[in-house]
Amino acid sequence: MPAVVVVGAQWGDEGKGKVVDIFAEHADVIARYQGGNNAGHTLVVGGEKTVLHLVPSGVLHPGKVCVIGNGVVVDPAVLIEEIERLQHRGYLLDDQLLKISDRAHLIMPYHRAIDLARERLRGEDRIGTTGRGIGPTYEDKMARIGIRFADLLDESSFHDLLRNTLAEKNAYIRALLQEEPFAFDAIHEQYSRYRERLAKYVTDVSVYLAQALSKGQRLLLEGGQGTMLDVDHGTYPFVTSSNTVASAACTGVGIPPGRISCVVGIVKAYTTRVGSGPFPTELHDATGEKLRQDGDEFGATTGRPRRCGWFDAVVVRHAVRINGIQGLALTKIDVLTGIDPIRICVAYEYNGQRYEHFPASMQVLRNAQPVYEEHPGWNEPLTSARTIEDLPRNARRYIQRLEELTETPMYLISVGANRNETILLRNPFHS
Ligand code: IMP
Repeated sequence: MPAVVVVGAQWGDEGKGKVVDIFAEHADVIARYQGGNNAGHTLVVGGEKTVLHLVPSGVLHPGKVCVIGNGVVVDPAVLIEEIERLQHRGYLLDDQLLKISDRAHLIMPYHRAIDLARERLRGEDRIGTTGRGIGPTYEDKMARIGIRFADLLDESSFHDLLRNTLAEKNAYIRALLQEEPFAFDAIHEQYSRYRERLAKYVTDVSVYLAQALSKGQRLLLEGGQGTMLDVDHGTYPFVTSSNTVASAACTGVGIPPGRISCVVGIVKAYTTRVGSGPFPTELHDATGEKLRQDGDEFGATTGRPRRCGWFDAVVVRHAVRINGIQGLALTKIDVLTGIDPIRICVAYEYNGQRYEHFPASMQVLRNAQPVYEEHPGWNEPLTSARTIEDLPRNARRYIQRLEELTETPMYLISVGANRNETILLRNPFHS
């Protein structure tokens, strides 16, 4: 009855989708535990590309059950569109293969409007959100005025909740954001249609998972975003509005901490981030541009160019500690081909002080100077490597140095976007 958590160890976009897809082969159930359609996972199987925003990345394995946990915020229109796209291609044809928690919160049209209007008003200080209404939905959850699937399914509760909440939201939207208010009837009608379409998937996910685990089924828990976007442990306030770290997997699907058998951290062989906020190893030069082009570093959700920089061991050590990462999955090492030398940040310096641990202060982070080590690069393409011995010596040395600096072994090395372009060193379900 193992439960494996896959968590991003940087600022998201580490390639969790591909890794979850690979580990999913060994799992029976794959569950998302937080975030929403701010996430975008790109999977390439047999040359065919699939982009997922809400359905867990195990969906391309026939017969596996995909679960959307209570910790996820769901935009029903996006979910329905995603289900239909998948069904069109022959996936999720059995309704039993998708479960949505009755406690998951719904993203409403006013959440999206508030997200976008706030960002506009912030101007230069904007967070650079994905504009999908994620933050305002989590705010309502904490303010105890959110609407959950259980509420949507009960027609009269939904009616009353929407009426009360909308009165407050419209007052805010009009007075503070100077935008048009929303009409009750239009939202009520639209969400009643969503109820009809999604009701069959809604269930008590905690009860379902407890039963699955006690039957000996294997559970894979998929995080969205990454550790540095965690609302507590990331670069606050330039973060997302949920806890993205491994411990959130338990609250996000309703399983106890003792069930987690292994935590795998996903790291890119360099670093990227989208949106605003500190990024000590960011490159503003030709190497940064090369990483962006060769790594196709453009957001799967918003299409925005990602900021690119060197691997930051301070960040990844922070992630290893907070998540309890037992093994790393290293992605996009193939993108470093042709870059020489390659640098790794091992600490920061600011005001005569050396920082080995990731600092909380924005002031320190904005001015921190990375302390770099240099490593010789390689020119060979890596995409056909299937064992560690197939890699050039300098690539092997680079990987070994990352293991030393993070004090964590590699479980998997990804050398290309395709499912088969992978070196699997250790199966987390057996560790
Ligand atoms: P939000 O989650 O849309 O509120 O955006 C907050 C911050 O998290 C912004 O910097 C986004 O760019 C970032 N973000 C949200 N989701 C992802 C993701 O899946 N990958 C990378 N960055 C993300």
